[in-house]
Amino acid sequence: MKKVIEEISEVVAEAFERAGYDAGFARVTVSNRPDLCEYQCNGAMAAKKQYKKAPIQIAGDVVAYLQDSELIEKAEAVMPGFINITLNRKSLAEYVQKMAEDQELSVEKTADPETIVIDYGGPNVAKPLHVGHLRSAIIGESIRRMGRRLGHHMIGDVHLGDWGLQMGLIITELQERKPELPYFDDSYTGEYPEEAPFTISELEEIYPTASKKSKEDDAYKNKALQATAELQSGRRGYRALWRHIISVSVTDLKKNYEKLDVHFDLWKGESDAQAYIPDMVQMMKDKGYAYEDQGALIVDVREEKDQKEVPPCMILKSDGAALYTTTDLATIVERMQDFDPDEILYVVDKRQEMHFIQTFRCARKTGLVKPETKLTFLGFGTMNGKDGKPFKTREGGVMRLETLIADIDREMFRKIVENKSVKDKDAEETAKIVGLSAIKYGDLSNQASKDYVFDVDRFTSFEGNTGPYILYTIVRIKSILNKFKAEGGSLEDAKILNAASDIEKKLMLQLSRYNEALTGAFEEKAPHRLCAYIYELSNNFNSFYHETRILTEENEGQKKSWLLLLKTVQRVLEDAIDVLGFSAPEEM
Ligand code: ARG
Repeated sequence: MKKVIEEISEVVAEAFERAGYDAGFARVTVSNRPDLCEYQCNGAMAAKKQYKKAPIQIAGDVVAYLQDSELIEKAEAVMPGFINITLNRKSLAEYVQKMAEDQELSVEKTADPETIVIDYGGPNVAKPLHVGHLRSAIIGESIRRMGRRLGHHMIGDVHLGDWGLQMGLIITELQERKPELPYFDDSYTGEYPEEAPFTISELEEIYPTASKKSKEDDAYKNKALQATAELQSGRRGYRALWRHIISVSVTDLKKNYEKLDVHFDLWKGESDAQAYIPDMVQMMKDKGYAYEDQGALIVDVREEKDQKEVPPCMILKSDGAALYTTTDLATIVERMQDFDPDEILYVVDKRQEMHFIQTFRCARKTGLVKPETKLTFLGFGTMNGKDGKPFKTREGGVMRLETLIADIDREMFRKIVENKSVKDKDAEETAKIVGLSAIKYGDLSNQASKDYVFDVDRFTSFEGNTGPYILYTIVRIKSILNKFKAEGGSLEDAKILNAASDIEKKLMLQLSRYNEALTGAFEEKAPHRLCAYIYELSNNFNSFYHETRILTEENEGQKKSWLLLLKTVQRVLEDAIDVLGFSAPEEM
């Protein structure tokens, strides 16, 4: 369905033309003074110069041609030259009716679908998931779902950190503990065991121990570096061990991402890109992009316009080792080859911005991507505790994701039981569903690039701009509709009537903007815009509900119209939260 704002824009453009002005000035926006009007056009001010006329006169000329439009109830020229527009109730009701009949709730699939690889999650194998990885997963998942909802071909890749020093550290520590394992025996030529020689909890203890030791003991650190190099150059036993580490770790990661309702199409890792490095480096040398500097191989990526210094991109260290950047470049080669995407989007901590500036510039300069391939960095801010510092456990340690989720679920459970709204046996399940909304909405409702405070009390509240409030609104509508149904009611012949009050019109107006909110949020890669939309929609619904006695309305047609309106609000809210990455319970 065409967006309401597009329909108005067309009418206004035609009026500009009929009044003798260029239609290019007829840009319509949602009003920033909703107390005065619903939509506005400021084109008369912009047209002043070209026509050497007072804007109010231009606005007046245009408005004269808007009076007979079926879409518009009122169009006014207001000093110094605004055109204020109010929608006609009948056409608004017709629009909402069409939404109610539309499977897609007015959202049109894109006319030119793009292939977009989205790189998010980014966990490091053998290290527990901590809250630092939460934002990437939540934001990335939501953008993937938005894109898919709009008809794009989204390919989500978890891009595991599975190739660095942490692998050498784990191998070294294992060797200290269990030197008798065949993986360390160079003369061993048989098959290696299928079963890993450690569990996930052992693995999670081994890594920090090894990491600590390497900081205190140089010999240990050198051993780990050596093991890393040998693993990377293909030592058989180490490769076998490494595969165990990955498989044990990935099983655990999958479980955790599942809990977050976060999904990936690809479980590739940094290691998968290694095969692409030699040819890529050779090409960069052959074409003269890469040159040696103090033994290292680098590519300049400075640009004239740079405000701050962008250091050269280091491709190989002086000992020939590849770096994080090398791996990311090789991953681009791999992705271009596998998918030839229109865009590669990275959802990563904004503190890695410089790394991505360098990587993107180097990829462009050396022709790893096509000129039209978009490379986008969506950098997110830090999740802080109430003290304004990065979120920690009470003891000051790094907060594990599992702990955070468990804390929220416990708090949610307490509230739900206190409310006595759900049967005890369902309370735990409900707490999990609502808890997830608290975490995800708490994150997504902030502009991604900003730091935010993770406030358990606020996020789990049933009131205010929170996930639980949105779910509460949905559940409330469901219960009204269920009551109606239980009394034998049916909405089969329901028809949306003109808004009977200002508050109802406001609700319909907000509802009619869903397609705009969703496409806008995706175009700007800004889930917070969709959150703001559903928060407003929920508020509009709750005010409407507050002042309207729906189920006791005697006029059947009016009652059914309201119920169909509610049903459509519910469907839009459910569609939107699905896109954001969470869902609503039956009761709460
Ligand atoms: N594993 C990295 C980290 O924990 C994040 C990876 C981000 N993605 C990328 N293509 N570099 O910091």
